[in-house]
Amino acid sequence: MDGFPSTAPPPTRRLSADAAGLEQAAALIAAGRLVALPTETVYGLGADATDPAAVAGIYAAKERPSFNPLIAHLPTRAAAMAQGIFDAHAQKLAEHFWPGPLTLVVPVAPGGTVCDLARAGLDSVALRVPGHALARDLLARVGRPVAAPSANRSGRVSPTRAAHVLADLDGRIAAILDGGDCPVGVESSVVACLGGPPRLLRPGGVTREALAAVLGFSPETGGEVGARPVGPGLLASHYAPRAGVRLDATRIAPGEAVLLFGAFRPEGLAEACAAENLSEAGIAEEAAARLFSALRRLDASGASVIAVAPVPEAGLGEAINDRLRRAAAPR
Ligand code: TXA
Ligand code: MG
Repeated sequence: MDGFPSTAPPPTRRLSADAAGLEQAAALIAAGRLVALPTETVYGLGADATDPAAVAGIYAAKERPSFNPLIAHLPTRAAAMAQGIFDAHAQKLAEHFWPGPLTLVVPVAPGGTVCDLARAGLDSVALRVPGHALARDLLARVGRPVAAPSANRSGRVSPTRAAHVLADLDGRIAAILDGGDCPVGVESSVVACLGGPPRLLRPGGVTREALAAVLGFSPETGGEVGARPVGPGLLASHYAPRAGVRLDATRIAPGEAVLLFGAFRPEGLAEACAAENLSEAGIAEEAAARLFSALRRLDASGASVIAVAPVPEAGLGEAINDRLRRAAAPR
């Protein structure tokens, strides 16, 4: 600190995806600073999950309501399993889907080190082993659980490339580790295993069909644990672009921006001010990977409404439709 009053925020450092960048990112996190990191789903805003001051920094940078608990990321299944109590369902899911886009909410282990603030005071903890090699390398170097919500301001569209993160958080975080585009593109599926049948709190990168194949049954959706809301799905508006969002559009009004899926063409498409197709071929995986950047581009068109053509619910369609419904929710 030079003692001069400054108005400009300190710049956010761009770190490259090599050993030097990883070392710097790990050192910053270990020192209690905020570092955005790539995962296979979306970029996370990482901080030492054992350090309440560092975690408080996440809530502040995101302007996130503090009752919303965060996911703790670990480099290996063994490290994650040491943080929680895994029943038979949770063990099966961890074995099949970790590393990968699945978050398990389980009771905190007696020796668990994820701080109260990261868990929003709950006696459960959300754990994830990312399927992104660079992320796991970083987590191994940090050597502690890393709390990482999506690296966007609260309520905004999640980031799937470094430029998205900087658009929301430049100057608010110490650094970003640039790992290129996130291949999955929607957040992890969140499954609670808290005794009784597992519940799908948030659809995401692991499909309901894949979960059902491992569990032997399809998990129930949503639900509350204790007296507190258990997922931001219960917040009305989330993942919101600036423009309004209108779902199941089969007819386009002049001047609207349009989000398409597959071969379907709504009436009036020629009058749209901008259009993006999530997947010409109608492939849900491709659509998920492109969802958040397509929403950002349509938002940048300046249209006041983004009209969204129907997206089938199968496979990753459930997660895509969940994000689109939240984007369309009243604000
Ligand atoms: O793909 C992802 O999951 C990304 C990347 C960065 O890993 N992270 C992410 O984190 O989406 P976040 O904080 O945006 O979402 C955390 C989700 C929320 O739905 C939250 O309510 C739920 O996990 N969650 C966390 N702890 C919980 C708990 N103890 N009980 C119930 N739900 C919990
Ligand atoms: Mg988020």
